[in-house]
Parts: sequence; structure tokens; C-alpha cells
Amino acid sequence: MENSATRSSEKETRVALLGFGTVGSAVAHLLQTQQFDGVRLTRIYNRGIQRKQGSTRAEGLHGDIIWTDNIEDVLASDADVVIETIGGLDPMGEWLARALLAGKHVVTANKQLIAYRGAGLSQLAREHGVSLVYNAAVAGGVPVIPAVLHGLQGDRVRQIAGILNGTCNFILSQMEAGADYHDVLAKAQAAGYAEADPTADVDGYDARAKLCILARTAMQIGLDPDAVPVQTIRNVRLVDFHYARDLNCTIRQVARIESDGETVRARVGPTLVPHTSPFAWSHGTQNLVMTTGEFGGDVVFSGHGAGGNPTAVAVVSDLLAVAHGSASVSLPVQNRAVSREFVAPHYLRFVVQDKPGIVSAIAGALAQVGANIDSIVQRPGYPKDALPFVVTTEPCSTATIQQAVDTIAKMPTMLEEPLLLQILREPQES
Ligand SMILES: NC(=O)c1ccc[n+]([C@@H]2O[C@H](COP(=O)([O-])OP(=O)(O)OC[C@H]3O[C@@H](n4cnc5c(N)ncnc54)[C@H](OP(=O)(O)O)[C@@H]3O)[C@@H](O)[C@H]2O)c1
Repeated sequence: MENSATRSSEKETRVALLGFGTVGSAVAHLLQTQQFDGVRLTRIYNRGIQRKQGSTRAEGLHGDIIWTDNIEDVLASDADVVIETIGGLDPMGEWLARALLAGKHVVTANKQLIAYRGAGLSQLAREHGVSLVYNAAVAGGVPVIPAVLHGLQGDRVRQIAGILNGTCNFILSQMEAGADYHDVLAKAQAAGYAEADPTADVDGYDARAKLCILARTAMQIGLDPDAVPVQTIRNVRLVDFHYARDLNCTIRQVARIESDGETVRARVGPTLVPHTSPFAWSHGTQNLVMTTGEFGGDVVFSGHGAGGNPTAVAVVSDLLAVAHGSASVSLPVQNRAVSREFVAPHYLRFVVQDKPGIVSAIAGALAQVGANIDSIVQRPGYPKDALPFVVTTEPCSTATIQQAVDTIAKMPTMLEEPLLLQILREPQES
């Protein structure tokens, strides 16, 4: 069948780039440096385009590129492929829909748009015989989406767990090495890893969007992102890393989904991960995704989850796949509700004014909901008037443990809100 694949041998694939920021400018440079046969960057769109055109990032780009700050120029142009590196839901959803309607292929790095509106846009693309590809939207430079689309569709993926946010991984792995949360967040912001407003990263919304895209592509499960619970990393303290180490674990932001064919469980939050797990070995801005298939078992993907160049590699690889007509498998997706009822061992950290009877009161509250204590850990050397100590439980549902924690939080000796974290078990133990 004649499509853009075969077209590439006859004519150039013309590319319009939306956005000339971190990712967009890296994409332009990669295309300029690599000079891929049959692919030509013809237009760059951004607001305030003179500022972009005059910036150092524009140096070295070929002189035939048309720079514009009018989106209508791009949508009405002869571009075969629109690459979107701007981000956000609006007006991007409308612009990309119009590009697809106009018969243009779309490559995007926009995880929020794909998580919330990917189903509708994919449908539109199918109806108009064009491609919508978004491999850069999950794990930046780690080609996890193409791998699951091309390499794992023959399996039945039952679980995915991932470190999907490089900013959180940077913060938590620096805290593991002794840094204070606020200092390391400031460092991440100065280094350009974290936004001035870090909410999407540290409160889990960014990882949640990526988890929903993975669920769709690897498990054919459509989720409403807003239904997936998120837990912030803001309440994790240095003391938690000390206690985690005593338990042969460290702490990472983990995004998880499990399906047993009937119930779908999903969540994003700081999680204790055993030192023996690949999640503990992931440092800095790295991403790591582990899929568990019913037939093929565990597969691990790891690498640079963000940054201009790694993400540009993913975008340009998508572009080349589109230009060469490489087909991807597209199995029907089922929309599913999300259960919060993960069964896992849990870590509970309390800060108390040390008084006799506290441990038995906590044990009583846990027994009341049927949760069994696995261990009680108290490091020496903390002041008695603000004593942090930890209780771990045997596997039980997070919702159940939360009920006990709500009761415990009201005890007069509690000096702050207890911290409740799941402990990740190795997949084969689940
Ligand atoms: N950075 C990463 O490591 C990474 C990794 C994976 C995916 N992504 C995704 O890639 C996309 C771009 O990220 P980025 O880091 O490159 O962001 P960025 O550096 O902020 O670049 C965005 C660009 O879009 C322009 N822009 C924003 N709103 C616009 C509008 N309404 N009209 C016209 N131009 C507009 C900005 O112009 P101004 O300069 O005027 O603001 C800027 O040049 C996002 O969807 C992001 O989630 C990024």
C-alpha cells in the first residue's frame, strides 16, 4: 500500500516543528546534524519567534527554514509531519486534531495530552489514515513505548512498575546520599531538572500521566488519569532513608499498575524498594520501567528519562518511523475503573513525644483493622520529645492500613502526621 513510507523514496518528508524550547531546539539540531535522507525540517513555530530565531540555539540551522508565530501558517502548510514539543492540553489538543484532520502525521512528546486525550486523537488519526506517535512522552530517551508496542504485544502484561519522573528520582537519590529535600529541590531547579512550580513532578501527576499511557499501550487498559491515586514525595524525610536502610531498602517514586484480568490497581507515590531491586539502582534523573508478562516474565528498561537530547532522540526516531511507514500494532483498548486496594507490606513512620504505652496503642489500632505488625524499628540517639520510629506491617490493603493511621494520627502524643508508604515486593513474590 502506498503511504508515507514509500513516499519517502520519491519525495522529501516535510516536517513542521511546534515549540523551540528544550526539546524542540534539540530536535532541530539533531535533524540538522544527522541530515537524514528524505526528511527535511521546513517550519518552526513558537510564540515570540524573533526571540527564538535570534537565540544561540538557532545557530547552525539551515537558512531555508520558515520561522513563524502563526499556527495557521503551519496547519495550512504542505508539512507532512507535525512535531509538537510545546506541551499542555489547550490549545494543543485542538491544534493537533486539526493537523490530523488535514492529513498530517503527528509526533508529540506531550504526556498530559496523550494521557487525557490520546484515545480520541488516535481514533482521529486512524480515521484519516495518518499516524499519531508519542514515544517521547514516556521515559524520554528510553524507548519503552516502541518496545512494548513492537516487542511485547504477544504477551499478556499483568504488571508495570516504573520510575517515570527523573526529577523525583534525582531528589530522592540525592536524599538517600544525605541531602535535604529543599536544598536538593533548589539544586534540581537550578540545573533545569525541576520546574519553578514542582507540583506536577513531586506530587506525582507527571508520573501518573505516563503510567496511564503505558497502561494503554502495554496492557490495552484505558484509565482516567484523575482516578489514579497519587501521593506526594514532599513528606519524605532524611530519617525515612535511615530507617529504610535499616530495612535493606531505599525510597523511590514508583508508578504501578497491576491487573489480574478483573481488577485494575494503580497508584503513584514514594515507595520503599529493596536494595536488591533494580529500582534501588536507578539514580539521578534516570528512568526505569519493569513490565511483568504472564508468558514472558519480567523485562526491564532503563536510561535517561528526560533532557533535551535524549528526548529529541525519541522524537526523531518517531519521525523516521513515520517517514518510513513503519506500522505499529494497535490492539483494542478497554476503559477500566481503578481500584486503590493494593495489597502490600507497609512502612509507617511516627514522630512522637515518647511516653509509655505508645507502641501498644499503635499496635492496638493496627490490630483493630486486622493488620499484623512485621517489625518495630527505633534507632538510638533521637530526642525523646520528638522521637521518630517505624512500624512495618505484613501485606494488607493500603486502604485498611490508612484507616488505622487515621486513628493513630489523632493520638495526643503524635507530633506530626504519620507517613505511610508501601513496600515494593519483588514481582515474583506478588
Ligand atoms: N524537557 C524534557 O526533558 C522532556 C522530556 C519528555 C517530554 N517532554 C515534553 O516535551 C514538551 C516540551 O518540553 P520542553 O521541556 O521542551 O518545554 P520548554 O523548554 O518550556 O519548551 C516549550 C516551548 O514551547 C513554547 N510555547 C509554550 N507555549 C506556547 C504557546 N501557547 N504558543 C507557542 N509557543 C509556546 C515555549 O516558548 P517560550 O520560550 O516563549 O516559553 C518554548 O519555546 C512538553 O510536553 C514536555 O512534557 C519534555
